[in-house]
Amino acid sequence: MKGLPGYYLLFAATLLALMALGSWWTIFISKAIFQEQQNSRLQLTQAAQVAALKLGQQESAPAQGPIKGTPQLEVIHILQANTGPMAFPLEPRYPDLAVRPTAQSMAHLDQVLAKRRRMIWGEGTLLFLLIGVCSLMLARLVFQERRHLQRMESFVSAFTHEMKTPLAGMKSLLQTMAAGRIPPQERQTLLLMGLREAERLEHSIENVLLSGSLRTNRLQVQVVDLDLRPILESFVEHRRRVLVGNSQLLHLTWDRDCLDAHVAADPSALHMILENLVDNALKYGEMKPVRLHVSQKAHMVLLAVTDEGIGFHQHQASVLFKPFHRSTSGAGTSQHGTGLGLTIARTLARRMGGELEAWSAGPGSGATFTLKLPTPNMEITT
Ligand SMILES: Nc1ncnc2c1ncn2[C@@H]1O[C@H](COP(=O)(O)OP(=O)(O)OP(=O)(O)O)[C@@H](O)[C@H]1O
Ligand SMILES: [Mg+2]
Repeated sequence: MKGLPGYYLLFAATLLALMALGSWWTIFISKAIFQEQQNSRLQLTQAAQVAALKLGQQESAPAQGPIKGTPQLEVIHILQANTGPMAFPLEPRYPDLAVRPTAQSMAHLDQVLAKRRRMIWGEGTLLFLLIGVCSLMLARLVFQERRHLQRMESFVSAFTHEMKTPLAGMKSLLQTMAAGRIPPQERQTLLLMGLREAERLEHSIENVLLSGSLRTNRLQVQVVDLDLRPILESFVEHRRRVLVGNSQLLHLTWDRDCLDAHVAADPSALHMILENLVDNALKYGEMKPVRLHVSQKAHMVLLAVTDEGIGFHQHQASVLFKPFHRSTSGAGTSQHGTGLGLTIARTLARRMGGELEAWSAGPGSGATFTLKLPTPNMEITT
């Protein structure tokens, strides 16, 4: 319970008090009803006693059967008095007769008692059930809040790190350049390295801003007819340029019938998805080749980004798309990132009527992320 906010403790104490009150209330009411029933029985018995006294002094003997005006009582022959409710002889004149409450009236009293008891125990059980549900909800809230706090803490530390590292890189680069110690033939390489750091910074900031806009629905995607080939070629070319010394890592291939594929997509959303998928493939790809392959299936264009890197267990595939999820073991932990990229990419893909799926043959076997986008003539349903 250490570290729980005061209001949770207050809420838990209130629930306990409610339980105690509920138990007390159920037992108390149940006892009260039993007492009331005993009183009713006693009253009926006393009424039989009074009636026996009165009838015992009458001039004429009363007829056997229910008493007129008091149907809960009946006159019986004294021999019948051995069975059923207690009977009172009609002393002094008719000792062979007796008055007693009818069996039906006694049974009626028992039925009323049983019905009320059922009601009280039913209500008591319902109260306990409701308290149980409230307790479960409270436990869930506490658990969720803790998890959220943990995620926020790790996000803040990852994001700070994300900001700091490229900034430090750019600063030392600028300092070296300002000191004029760089030979002219190395200047271009260093500038590209600086550009890569700036892009990394931009990528992180864009991810954070975008995830906020997507969560609050401020961002609307505008789906238009896009010619995929020039977009992918210019994207790959740009990425190759900033992959200083490793430009051969990135390959773009097409199925023959897809060379002039068109998709219904939002250009900036598509760019953002590509950025995230390729960034991941390079980051978690252990500097091995990354392939972008375009194919077509039914009315969907499939863009698969495949790497030969750290991979993952297939049963974890859906978890990767959860916000702030980052690998907690293996080589993935050493990579920079905030855990937002795939969440954003899948959300954008779905908003354009497409899908984003992850597949891997297992840890160390590389991974494939497949973006499916509808072709322009297909009606978008989401
Ligand atoms: N190509 C991949 N191979 C193996 N694991 C991957 C791959 N892409 C993503 N992952 C796993 O999924 C997690 C979530 O990826 P995501 O892109 O959402 O976040 P990130 O790359 O850690 O940070 P960000 O993209 O926000 O900078 C990663 O931390 C990594 O563990
Ligand atoms: Mg990423």
